[in-house]
Amino acid sequence: MKYKLELVDLEKSFSNKKVLDKLNLKVIDGEFLVVLGPSGEGKSTLLRTIVGIENLDSGKIIVNGTDVTFKPPNKRNIAMVFQNYALYPNMTAYENIAFPLKMARTDRNSIRSKVDQVAKLLNIEPQLNINVTRLSGGQQQRVAIARALVRDPALFLLDEPLSNLDARVRYTSRQELKRLQKELSHTFVYVTHDQVEASNLADRVAVLHNGVIEQIGPYNELYEKPNTQWVGDFIGTYPMNFIPGDLMGYPDSTIGFRTRWVSEGNDITAKVTLIENSEGNYFVHCKTGDSDIVIRTDTKYNVDDTISFGLERFNIYKNGVLEEIKSGNSVASSGINDVDN
Ligand SMILES: Nc1ncnc2c1ncn2[C@@H]1O[C@H](COP(=O)(O)OP(=O)(O)O)[C@@H](O)[C@H]1O
Ligand SMILES: [Mg+2]
Repeated sequence: MKYKLELVDLEKSFSNKKVLDKLNLKVIDGEFLVVLGPSGEGKSTLLRTIVGIENLDSGKIIVNGTDVTFKPPNKRNIAMVFQNYALYPNMTAYENIAFPLKMARTDRNSIRSKVDQVAKLLNIEPQLNINVTRLSGGQQQRVAIARALVRDPALFLLDEPLSNLDARVRYTSRQELKRLQKELSHTFVYVTHDQVEASNLADRVAVLHNGVIEQIGPYNELYEKPNTQWVGDFIGTYPMNFIPGDLMGYPDSTIGFRTRWVSEGNDITAKVTLIENSEGNYFVHCKTGDSDIVIRTDTKYNVDDTISFGLERFNIYKNGVLEEIKSGNSVASSGINDVDN
């Protein structure tokens, strides 16, 4: 396997707060990797150490097989798109995009043709001669991406590049970004706290928690087989349901199941507390013992009803860590492609 980026035991603290705690990660050549984590978990710090604008306490960063740990940012062959775009405000879009090439002493004609090329790719040709402060958020974001693309670096780091856009533009930008990455066969490391972005964009999602990558894999795998209860709780529109293992005959364990993993049966009895109606399905919030759970049904129940259901599959956790997956015959490995379940 050829890796574009290898991170080995990265450590970084601010005063006495440990942000990266021997973090390891390997990014495959041509991969769209999304690092997903709650805000404040260290996503920006991780990207800043990779690009070299933040020093590591210890660890190793390898790009294309070369150790770049002690190289300055401009010698790492990595481009980064910042959350706030970090455009030069007193310059036009053209001048912003051309800037890295100018710094690299590229000749005038090559600059012109390269800028034109990426501007075309990103549909910003009409804006090239406009001062960036007069562009819309979506246009500024394209200029920032164009500026990263123009150097043809080995690796792209993107720090929540869509978070400042409104919903509609965010949706179209997301699709364009994905198309661009695949068409150009670039390697992207994209950080976000947004699960919808992660599930839509990523070839693999790496979940950042407590300074390490707690789990990495395709989004559906994280959704169905979270390695830890923390990941199960974090991933999904609804957190994974957790109930004491005793209820199903598994002492000293916790049972985890998704809203849709229920069937007819009597494994669990619960009292309905709230009903949500979403696109033809009912999400029934209920309480069993001390546990609050949510299940998805076609049946219209009422608040205060007592209901019974079976589990056609469930995961068993011990001390917060996945121990065993129990799945019925009918459900082997059904793919779940939407997040809204
Ligand atoms: N330059 C800094 N000095 C001190 N603390 C910092 C600095 N940069 C980040 N931190 C802290 O490190 C933690 C991770 O921050 P950050 O990497 O920005 O998280 P994220 O991008 O996931 O929201 C936060 O607690 C933040 O306050
Ligand atoms: Mg951040």
